[in-house]
Amino acid sequence: GAAQPVIVAIDGPSGTGKSSTSKAVAAQLGLSYLDTGAQYRAITWWMVNNGIDIEDPTAVAAVAGKPDIVSGTDPQGPTITVDGVDVAVPIREQDVTSKVSAVSAVPEVRARITELQRTIASSADGGIVVEGRDIGTTVLPDADLKIFLTASPEARAARRSGELKGADLHTTREALIKRDAADAGRKTSPLAKAGDAVEVDTTDLTLQQVIECVVTLVEEKRAAK
Ligand code: DC
Repeated sequence: GAAQPVIVAIDGPSGTGKSSTSKAVAAQLGLSYLDTGAQYRAITWWMVNNGIDIEDPTAVAAVAGKPDIVSGTDPQGPTITVDGVDVAVPIREQDVTSKVSAVSAVPEVRARITELQRTIASSADGGIVVEGRDIGTTVLPDADLKIFLTASPEARAARRSGELKGADLHTTREALIKRDAADAGRKTSPLAKAGDAVEVDTTDLTLQQVIECVVTLVEEKRAAK
C-alpha cells in the first residue's frame, strides 16, 4: 500500500539530472535521500588532505577504513561530514572531481562505502532514494524500483557547464567523457544499467518531466506492494 517503505535506486552517468531528480522525488514522496557520489568524493577529499598518493591503489586501500564519513539524508538539505568536518563545498572542487574516479575504483574503498550505503538504506524508516553508479547492480540489488538515467554527451556537457559557471563547454565535455569511461570501465562494480532497471533518456525532457516520470513509477510500485 501507499505507506509501505520503498527503496529506489537511481543510477547513470554525470549530467543526466540524477541528483536534482533524486532529491526532488524523495522530497515529493517523503523519502530519505542518499547521494553516494558525495561519499566517494568525501573519501577522495580525505585522501588528498592526508597526502595519500591516489595513483597508488595499495596506499589508498591501506587507509580506506580510516575516515569517518557521515551522510545526512534529508532531501531538503543533505549533509556530508568527514571526521566531523562539513565537506559539502570542498568535495565539489575540480581537484576532487578529477581524482574521484581513481579512488572509487579501489575495491577496498568500494567495500567500505557500500557497507555504509547498505546500513543507511536499511535504517531509513519511510524508504529512501539512493543515487549513484552501481546502486541497482551491486549496492541494493533488491531495490523496489531501479531507474537508469541517460542523456546524449552533448546534453550532459551542456548541463554540467551550466552548473560550473563560466566553464568551457568543450573542456567540460572532454572531462565528463573521460570520467564516465573510467567509471564504466573499472573492474569492481562499474557504472552499469541493471537488467531490471527502467531506462529514462532525459536528452529531450525538462527536469520537471523527468521528476514526474520517476514519481509516477515510484507510486505505481508502492501501490503494488
Ligand atoms: O555523482 P558524482 O559525479 O558526484 O560521483 C562522483 C564519482 O564517484 C563518480 O565519478 C564515480 C564515483 N561513484 C561511484 O563510483 N559509485 C557510485 N555509486 C557513485 C559515484
